[in-house]
Order: sequence, then structure tokens, then C-alpha cells
Amino acid sequence: MKIIGTGSALPSLRVTNHDLEGFLDTSDEWITERTGIKERRLLSTETLYDLAEEAAKKALQSAGIGPEQLDFIICSNVANRFITPGMNCILQGSIGATCAGLDINVACAGFVNAMMLADSMMQAGRASHILIVCAEEPTKYCNWDERDTSILFGDGAAAVVLGPGNGFKAVQMSMISNKDVLYYERCMEKTPFEKNRVEGQPLVMKGRELFRVAVSQSAKDIKIVLEKAGIQPSDVTYYLMHQANKRIIEGIRAILNEPEEKFPTNIENYGNTSSASIPILLDEMLHANRIHAGDTLLMSAFGAGFVSAACVLQWE
Ligand code: COA
Repeated sequence: MKIIGTGSALPSLRVTNHDLEGFLDTSDEWITERTGIKERRLLSTETLYDLAEEAAKKALQSAGIGPEQLDFIICSNVANRFITPGMNCILQGSIGATCAGLDINVACAGFVNAMMLADSMMQAGRASHILIVCAEEPTKYCNWDERDTSILFGDGAAAVVLGPGNGFKAVQMSMISNKDVLYYERCMEKTPFEKNRVEGQPLVMKGRELFRVAVSQSAKDIKIVLEKAGIQPSDVTYYLMHQANKRIIEGIRAILNEPEEKFPTNIENYGNTSSASIPILLDEMLHANRIHAGDTLLMSAFGAGFVSAACVLQWE
């Protein structure tokens, strides 16, 4: 399997840290120093489905294939307006594809998990062209009256088209069940029978604990996946990390003792876009002509669960 096309789509509304100072007890200085974020994009006039469609169409165009050539669609999403049907069904119609698909929710680690699924399907001979779309609107499950989570997130979508090849070298997926570090509890409809009804609540996060687990578990995943791929940290051209916090990325970088220039970021412009963050970064780097044939890319992500995953790709 290899990536043969990429695309991304972001909301047009830019919201800076200074904009947030207007209604939250926070400051540009605090957010920049603790997270590296300067601004984020927020859905205002568009829908998440507009972004997913735009990213998918761009990825198909860059792959040079039509939607009818797709054998499968995998969508990664934590939450959106439609609980059912799945995002993949709605997207199939809007891009004009005819194949089947499924949605996955592996929080911010969704892209790496989707890559693992796609590779398994290709190896089993079940598909030769797969579309992955990561589309996320985490700003819609934060409490905007509070400063603890709303400053961290941004909305966005990105897609990749996968085709036959040998670029996918190794993957590691990890999970430590610990719901309490990060969760969003949605309110369901009332029934006349349910006892002890639980009302929903916006995203709850234990930031400090999450920070520590994210650094240690991601570093562990990376060491394991490097070993599986039979390479050293120095063999990696770029580490494409989940863009959750610049200090988390820096913590992982310090453990690996690798140079800063190998850890590209765009968190300053978009905040944490959940599972879309790595494919958005990948698409931007390709557009900037920063990735070339033969480069080794290591992708690593973590999120609510607690889940984490890493994979190694050789760019073909
Ligand atoms: N603006 C200004 N001050 C804030 C603030 C904000 N947005 N949020 C918290 N503070 C204050 C706190 O009230 C606290 O004040 P005090 O010292 O007077 O009690 C102080 O800043 C430190 O808060 P703390 O939560 O300990 O800060 P931190 O250094 O741990 O940084 C995070 C907070 C959220 C940036 C950091 O813990 C983090 O990034 N964690 C991981 C989050 C993440 O990645 N989530 C997504 C995973 S996919």
C-alpha cells in the first residue's frame, strides 16, 4: 500500500488567541506558551460534510483517479451531527463513489488506525484503492464558557487515497483504558423506561495527566514501530506528530534525541484538529514540496481512550 493522493479542507473563519481574550479569561501569551497555538479555524458558514467532501475530491484529483475506481471508504470522526447513517455513507453520495465503507472512532489516533485497516484490506486482496477521510469538529463539543478545552481545538478535514505499493512498513497500536482523562458524554433521547438517566456534558479533560501519558506512551509506540520497521530514529526523515500541543511534541522529541527540524508543526495555525491533524500536515508538506521519494515518515498520534498509534511509511 502507498499514498497516491492527498487533500485537505479548512473552515474559512480564523479565530486568533486575541479573539478569545474577548470572552474567555485567557491570554495570547498563556496559550502560546503552554500549547504553541496562535489561531485555529472554526466552522461557521460551512458544515463538516462540506469540508469532508472538499478534502476527498482534492485527494482523488491528486491521485488521478475517479470516485468510481474506489473500492472502499474509511471515515475517521469522533462526533458529528449524524449518529446514523455513517459519515462514509453520506460522503459516498456527495463524491459520486459507488463502493462500501465504514466509520471509525479512535479519537485523535484515527488516521493511523485507518491506515492499518486499509493496509490489512489491501493485503487480504479486498481492495486496491481506498479513500480515508478524517473530518473533525471538536470545537462543537467543548464548553465555550470555560477556558480549559475551548482554546485547544480547531475544525478541519483531510483525505488520502491509497493504492498498491510497498510504502507502509510498520504499525503499532496501543490502548490503556482510562476514560476519565478525556471524554465527551452525549445526551441521548429520553425513554419512558430508563432509570438513572445521565445528562450529557461537554468535553471533560485532565490536562496534566493526559500530557504525561501522551509523551510517555507516544515515545514508547515510536520505539516499538521503529524496531518493527528495522530502522533507527536517525533514519526517519520527518516525524509527523499529532498536533495537540507543541510542548508534547517537544517532550517526545527530547526522549528520541532527534533534531527539531524533523518535527514539522502547524498547530500554531489550526490548533488540535483531532484525527485530521496528521493528514492536514502531510498534505501541506507535500504542497510545500518538502517530501520526496525515498523519505521515511513516522506518524504518531494519541487521544481519548487512552489510545495511541504510530506507523512508518517510506514515500514512493
Ligand atoms: N488561559 C489562562 N490560564 C489558564 C488556562 C487558559 N486557557 N487554562 C488553565 N489556566 C490556568 C489554570 O487555572 C492554572 O492556574 P493556577 O496556577 O492559578 O491554578 C494554570 O493556568 C496552570 O494550569 P494547568 O492546567 O496546570 O496548565 P498546564 O501547564 O497543564 O497546561 C494544558 C494546560 C491543557 C495546555 C496542558 O495540560 C495540555 O496541553 N494537556 C494535554 C491536552 C491535550 O493534548 N488534549 C487533547 C488530547 S488529544
